[in-house]
Amino acid sequence: MKVKLGFTLLALCMLIITACSSTTNSDAKKEDGAEKLDIFSWWTGAGEEDGLKALIQLFEEKNKDIPIENAAVAGGAGTNAKAVLTSRMQGNDPPATFQVHGGAELNESWVAAGKMEPLDDLYEKEGWKDKFPESLIDLVSKDGKIYSVPVNIHRGNVLWYNKKVFDDAGLEPPTTFDEFFKTADALKKKGITPLALGDKEPWAATHLFESVLLGVLGADDYQKLWAGDMKMDDAKVKEAADIFGRMLEYVNDDHSSRNWQDASQLVAKGEAAMNVMGDWAKGYFVNDLDLKVNKDFGYVATPGTEGSFMVITDTFGLPKGVEQPENVKKFLSVLGSVEGQDAFNPLKGSIPARVDADVSKYDEYGKSAMKAFKESKLAPSLAHGSAAEEGFVTKANQAVNIFVTQKDSSQFVSSLKDSMK
Ligand code: GAL
Repeated sequence: MKVKLGFTLLALCMLIITACSSTTNSDAKKEDGAEKLDIFSWWTGAGEEDGLKALIQLFEEKNKDIPIENAAVAGGAGTNAKAVLTSRMQGNDPPATFQVHGGAELNESWVAAGKMEPLDDLYEKEGWKDKFPESLIDLVSKDGKIYSVPVNIHRGNVLWYNKKVFDDAGLEPPTTFDEFFKTADALKKKGITPLALGDKEPWAATHLFESVLLGVLGADDYQKLWAGDMKMDDAKVKEAADIFGRMLEYVNDDHSSRNWQDASQLVAKGEAAMNVMGDWAKGYFVNDLDLKVNKDFGYVATPGTEGSFMVITDTFGLPKGVEQPENVKKFLSVLGSVEGQDAFNPLKGSIPARVDADVSKYDEYGKSAMKAFKESKLAPSLAHGSAAEEGFVTKANQAVNIFVTQKDSSQFVSSLKDSMK
């Protein structure tokens, strides 16, 4: 009895000590008396954090008196970070700066709510207006003002494939849906999982679906869909849902317990032949798994999307009410500089957002993505926040998740349509 009581008291004391010593975000920022700039993102772990670390290092070299805190929250595509960010923003405890996708995610969530400072003066001072493509500046602007600085451009519609698996099977990577299904059948016969998927975080399945949508609709109709000029229950959307459903028949059985890195790993190891993922997967293949572009793995545009570029841009802005706006601007200046972009992007797998970055720093894939960005029709990503408001993205992720298990394409399309309202 005495022993039990002793343990209970000890546990109570520990609880009290933990509660007293637990700090708020603001306290953590003030460690050692110096106010730290907390850089908020979801870039932790394999394939994600190397670029960020290189950028922070570059900033610290240039600004020795401004300490940085890497406040990243794990979870692909912001699965957990977005909820943490929302609660911090609502509690008037904004990070010094945070990762946000250009397009609806920035403009409809944060700018429309009056939570961001315009950055036109910074663009003016740095001479940036003609250093970023107009299409990108549009994505980070609302009502004529610019609200964030793009650090990169990711391409979403990429099909990655294991070279050896394809060579051994005498197959070519598919560029149309017909080719995809023929190739997938041939691989299946050989006992190889044709398509890797890791939708433990449901956005990964939405990512696959949006690439199919782009492949069926083409960039013009895809744009119309998100602009509200094409109905969500258009026959072409249903066709895309059906094709997406057929593709799901070729994925690994354990897809719902894997994340995007685990799924990419199946391709890296040759246990699966292909996966559809943004080109952060290239950063993962090359920097984390030590694979060689066009030797160990190859890439093509996802079926039907050659000539289209699903744009994903990670940007950082200046939230209202931060304690050191001038220091945040210094960070954004480094992030938007040629040097900053060239430190970050070769590691991240993305291409620089700036038009004047140093092409020689990028590998064969990076160079081909830069060319594709210039020559393709651009399409905003749904899964990564550009095409539609966050509320719709959340509902779309839920609808996709249900479809993945139930495969009812009519119900799927009607859920998407209802969510649009
Ligand atoms: C995207 C983001 C990328 C990458 C990816 C996977 O939303 O734009 O930079 O982090 O998620 O987490």
